Amino acid sequence: MKTQPLGVSDVRVSRVAYGCMPLGGGWDRSPVTPAIQKSAITTVRAALDEGINFFDHADIYCKGKSEEVFAAMWNEVPSLRGKIILQSKTGIRFGGEPDARDVTRYDFSAEHILRTVEGSLKRLKTDYLDVLLLHRPDVLVEPEEVARAFDDLHQAGKVRWFGVSNETAPQLELLRHYLHQPIVTNQVQFNVMHTHMLDEGVNFNQYVNRMARNAGTIEYCRLNNITLQSWGSLVNGRVTGRRVENPTKAHTDTTALVAEIAKTKGVDPEAILVAWILRHPAKIQAVIGTTRPERIKAACQGDGVDLSREEWYRLYAAGRGEGLP
Ligand SMILES: NC(=O)c1ccc[n+]([C@@H]2O[C@H](COP(=O)([O-])OP(=O)(O)OC[C@H]3O[C@@H](n4cnc5c(N)ncnc54)[C@H](OP(=O)(O)O)[C@@H]3O)[C@@H](O)[C@H]2O)c1
Repeated sequence: MKTQPLGVSDVRVSRVAYGCMPLGGGWDRSPVTPAIQKSAITTVRAALDEGINFFDHADIYCKGKSEEVFAAMWNEVPSLRGKIILQSKTGIRFGGEPDARDVTRYDFSAEHILRTVEGSLKRLKTDYLDVLLLHRPDVLVEPEEVARAFDDLHQAGKVRWFGVSNETAPQLELLRHYLHQPIVTNQVQFNVMHTHMLDEGVNFNQYVNRMARNAGTIEYCRLNNITLQSWGSLVNGRVTGRRVENPTKAHTDTTALVAEIAKTKGVDPEAILVAWILRHPAKIQAVIGTTRPERIKAACQGDGVDLSREEWYRLYAAGRGEGLP
């Protein structure tokens, strides 16, 4: 597995990262069973075997249980902590907690950031996070407060590097204006069927029905050496065998094309999905979230697949469901 720098940080990360969201078994407060723990260990071992050195968490994944089960790896693989890059996130609060009337909301207050990082460190049984991300933009963000929380965490040796997730270029610009710590990554939804960050540039100056405004986020991150991380990298299996209710033409065409290109390259379809992300010159790090060792192996083959410009654009057009202007 090839590695690359993560933004301006001093860490080198595997081009494919493992997303630990499903490891805890379920999004509830039921205790971790031995079966869930065993399955998590098998999955993480499979990722390590493929050369993955980067593990993505969030305080909320499976209500904390994903971080909790991951901590078993310190006993499974002695000296692992110093060899991997551990990322977690903060900032999303569940509806119904602590008050039944509370709705799902975002919270970048210093109090919330500091308290949740303590929780992550405790569950992960580690003294520090390599990277901490703000999970989803808080509409009520006070950037000076975020700066203070980040400085406190950095000075205490609890977090080495900082990043964001699902943020537009202007949101990043606002935050970076106040922060003393660099932003090294922005984790966003991106895959062959979720191409809005690219479509925006392609559809410039045209009337289109299907247009999400991303404010030049991909260009902003490239210009400022902020590594993009893609979530949903495997399209949740929807073009590699998972049953899709009422598939669109884009689904059907992409599924067929991914299978065809995989066959010509002698790899599994998941490898083509990952290779499509890695082929973009922004050097996007692909975060995969399958729990199955065989799919982790299949996806990691993508690191060794070179897609031609023509193959890449055919996949892009298929995933968009329409040709380019
Ligand atoms: N920052 C954010 O807002 C955000 C949001 C979502 C996720 N993430 C991160 O990104 C990681 C990956 O995201 P993701 O899980 O959405 O992406 P993904 O890697 O595209 O999807 C993984 C999911 O798809 C299923 N899957 C894959 N291939 C399949 C197939 N052929 N048939 C049936 N099911 C299949 C997997 O099930 P199996 O386990 O059975 O293979 C798993 O549930 C997460 O773990 C998390 O760390 C971040």
